[in-house]
Amino acid sequence: MAVLEHLTSQQAIDLENKYGAHNYHPLPVVLSKGEGVYVWDVEGKKYYDFLSAYSAVNQGHCHPKIVGAMVEQAKTLTLTSRAFYNDMLGKYEKYATETFGFDKLLPMNTGAEAVETALKVCRRWAYQKKGIPENQAKVIVCENNFHGRTTTIISFSNDEVARENYGPYTEGFVKIEYDNLTALENALKSNPHVAGFLVEPIQGEAGVYVPSEGYLKEAKALCEKYNVLFVADEVQTGIARTGKMLAVDHENVKPDILILGKALSGGVYPVSGVLANDDIMEVITPGSHGSTFGGNPVAAAVSTAALEVIKEENLAENAQELGELFREELNKFIPTCDLVVKVRGKGLLNAIVINDTEESSTAWDICMALKENGLLAKPTHGNIIRFAPPLVMDREQLMDCVSIIIKTLNEFTKQ
Ligand SMILES: Cc1ncc(COP(=O)(O)O)c(C=O)c1O
Repeated sequence: MAVLEHLTSQQAIDLENKYGAHNYHPLPVVLSKGEGVYVWDVEGKKYYDFLSAYSAVNQGHCHPKIVGAMVEQAKTLTLTSRAFYNDMLGKYEKYATETFGFDKLLPMNTGAEAVETALKVCRRWAYQKKGIPENQAKVIVCENNFHGRTTTIISFSNDEVARENYGPYTEGFVKIEYDNLTALENALKSNPHVAGFLVEPIQGEAGVYVPSEGYLKEAKALCEKYNVLFVADEVQTGIARTGKMLAVDHENVKPDILILGKALSGGVYPVSGVLANDDIMEVITPGSHGSTFGGNPVAAAVSTAALEVIKEENLAENAQELGELFREELNKFIPTCDLVVKVRGKGLLNAIVINDTEESSTAWDICMALKENGLLAKPTHGNIIRFAPPLVMDREQLMDCVSIIIKTLNEFTKQ
């Protein structure tokens, strides 16, 4: 088989199965084209993308401005490493820090790398600024967190599938219940050497758990009281997904350390970053952290364009409006069926909870039926289906998607 030969879906799936490690369980659909809110499979069938590559493609597939910026920069200069300066990085850092209101950006590539970076910054700050004795720093994390896949990050996960047989694990993490301020204060009180509190403003992978109103604001206040850094992982919730540029903006909270990834590039190129003010970021010194690709000229061009698109096309406002409409429509439907227990979310990061056990295949089967009806979504955990379309969707398209979802759920109820 020639490498560039046109493949059927089955051929493409067989190739991945045979030659790729089996670290994912994809829905059996093979995509070969994307534009805006749509993707097409190799047989030419068109679908609404209701996952957006786990909220990376907020600006829509192959956004011409972002792709244009990438192509132009790729023809000019792609990589210098940070051994030398390049003429794109500084401009990008200025734009990104002004956009998010921080003094400094530390550019990385993937979300997990940015989380690792934030943990390192946080620990250094604890030793150098807070005066915690060497190797004693603790970071408070939440149960059911998802922050990525590195050895350190899975060390404080409670997803046994993600952890099994990867030990020994990294020490220095204290796990508390999410959305529980008493647990947070107890952990802060009983551990004298806490460096930071790492939290997702909404737990996306866990099933789109939105904490109680005021949780983030109170948590930030507790962190201030105990001189602990509030570290927000907005890799999934950031960049307009929840109806504001950042999910913490809903409660006017300013994290001490902000972690971004995914839609920071519009899903065009791996770009992530950590933002903080000088009093924190100055603990990073030459040689103490780095990445060959972090802050490369293509990433800088792509990310600048991706952030401009968010602002120029008012995608936060659109996510806010369409998210309300989506939940309103589903809330009208839910009482008419006993298949769906509830819809929850913020902006265009939503999920429905299926009335079945976590071990059941119902959510997966519904996603298979949605695929047949022209909409792609995936269960997060067992009985929860996440709905996160690109934010460039319009009202008419959203209503079309709502009818596909309702039609599919009705087909299921009648089976
Ligand atoms: C909140 C959060 N943090 C970190 C990550 C890891 O990002 P990446 O897969 O780019 O390493 C994810 C990915 O889903 C995420 O949702």
